[in-house]
Amino acid sequence: MSYQPSKMIGIFDCATSQKVIGQEKFLDAFKTILNHGAYCQGPETKELDTKLAEYSGTKYCSTCGSGTDALTLALMAWGVKEGDAVFVSSFTFVASAEAPVLLGATPIFVDSKPDTYNMDPEDLKRAIAEVKAAGKLNLKVVIPVDIFGSPCEYDEIIKIAHENGMKVLSDSCQSYGSVYKGKNAGSIADMTATSF
Ligand SMILES: Cc1ncc(COP(=O)(O)O)c(C=O)c1O
Repeated sequence: MSYQPSKMIGIFDCATSQKVIGQEKFLDAFKTILNHGAYCQGPETKELDTKLAEYSGTKYCSTCGSGTDALTLALMAWGVKEGDAVFVSSFTFVASAEAPVLLGATPIFVDSKPDTYNMDPEDLKRAIAEVKAAGKLNLKVVIPVDIFGSPCEYDEIIKIAHENGMKVLSDSCQSYGSVYKGKNAGSIADMTATSF
């Protein structure tokens, strides 16, 4: 007997959200934006920035086009460039490693813990030691990923990164809304990139 899925769950279900929120609300919002013409950085995006910062418990938040853009912009803000090593969780979506590559930096993959699939702090230490010993790249950033919504071991990872003069950019694209030791994802690392 062949397997029959009981119900197909769509990844994108815009029809239901229109029903729940109400199509008129969408149309009114679109009309407002079309009328004032500030499609980016307008009052609606500023309001969203403020609400997301409040929710996350951060001083600043800036919206952009995608999670990939958010990761790339954060690295650009820290001046990441060719010759820099960026330590990345190995179990992730391609964007976590794509962002450093787009800037000419070198992603160094860190192995995952077998129980959570998140970055293994012990393997991070090993990877750092290896890059240091090779002496070719500058230690620059660590990008841990909260895979499947489960926060990584931030205390250990941030300690190791800071002891080695690196910033931590949390890839929270799968975990916005999750909590680590009472703190919202978004307010834990030096910077956080998310998407939804
Ligand atoms: C862990 C992770 N990082 C980054 C991204 C990139 O986000 P976006 O598709 O919004 O560019 C995703 C997207 O699925 C993701 O799962």
